[in-house]
Amino acid sequence: MPDYAFFHKQFMPLSEAKIGILTHALHYGTACFEGIRGNWDSEQERFCIFRIQDHYKRIFNGCHLLKINLPYSVDELCQLTKELLERSGYHEDVYIRPLAYKSSETVGLRLHNLEDDFFIVVTTFPSFLDIEKGVRCCTSSWRRMDDTMIPPRGKICGVYVNSSLAKTEAWENGLDEAILLTQDGHVSEGSGENIFLVSGGKLITPPPSDNVLLGITRDTVMQLAKNELGIDTIERHVDRSELYLAEECFFTGTASNIAPILEIDHRPIGTGGIGKVTAKLQKLFAEVILGRNPKYPDWYYLASPKAVTA
Ligand SMILES: Cc1ncc(COP(=O)(O)O)c(C=O)c1O
Repeated sequence: MPDYAFFHKQFMPLSEAKIGILTHALHYGTACFEGIRGNWDSEQERFCIFRIQDHYKRIFNGCHLLKINLPYSVDELCQLTKELLERSGYHEDVYIRPLAYKSSETVGLRLHNLEDDFFIVVTTFPSFLDIEKGVRCCTSSWRRMDDTMIPPRGKICGVYVNSSLAKTEAWENGLDEAILLTQDGHVSEGSGENIFLVSGGKLITPPPSDNVLLGITRDTVMQLAKNELGIDTIERHVDRSELYLAEECFFTGTASNIAPILEIDHRPIGTGGIGKVTAKLQKLFAEVILGRNPKYPDWYYLASPKAVTA
């Protein structure tokens, strides 16, 4: 299956989309990206690109923070993505990666007086975490990047060194994922996911001021919990030990969907299995990402494969 890219304002095979080795973003992380899922519905023979408009609105936040000019509207970006997906000819779940970056081939630390560029690539990407079995985690010895260092409100490439350090530390310790704390010791999030706990029948998740990325899955879960299960979510500081004592914990993210957390720092969470609220949310989430719940039409953007050859 040839992967395709939208690069230098045209569609081309991925193998032809190349950047120079002096590209500013490669040296300094001066870029921002999105991760969007195109979920393949084999019954309807179509993709449901989930909350694509919200992903593109968020990439504009990253661009604003990094002073990157992205010369497209959200609607144009959606249309380009749809066309790229149609050309790619996939009949399976895909991962769509738009990335806006400082493209000047020059050395020097700054954001100003540099050229910008943008690409979108579509590829396959299995779930990041095992959502059926659940995951085992540790609290990372790395702290989550603070807004005073690199703003977490956009998916800024440089920030992901922080996530990668934490993820590899967890993996080297035989675990699936890391939970990062803020500088002052509150729970922030996973390496690439937001975190929720269930306590006293309520959902609790760290607030934006604890350096979380404002996840689109996080928002989806909050809306589904309220509308479908009558459960409110409280956004507040969370202490590390609260996680240990929670009835349930789970991660949310585009790459990992809703991933139940079975164990943190060698302590089982709740029963040590997948909790009831988590399982209900997983079921509701599995429906909406395929566009199957008619209550949320704004979340769905549909595309069909055409298998166009370039
Ligand atoms: C650091 C971080 N936190 C949380 C998330 C979850 O965000 P979303 O649900 O929008 O994918 C992601 C993934 O994009 C992420 O990279």
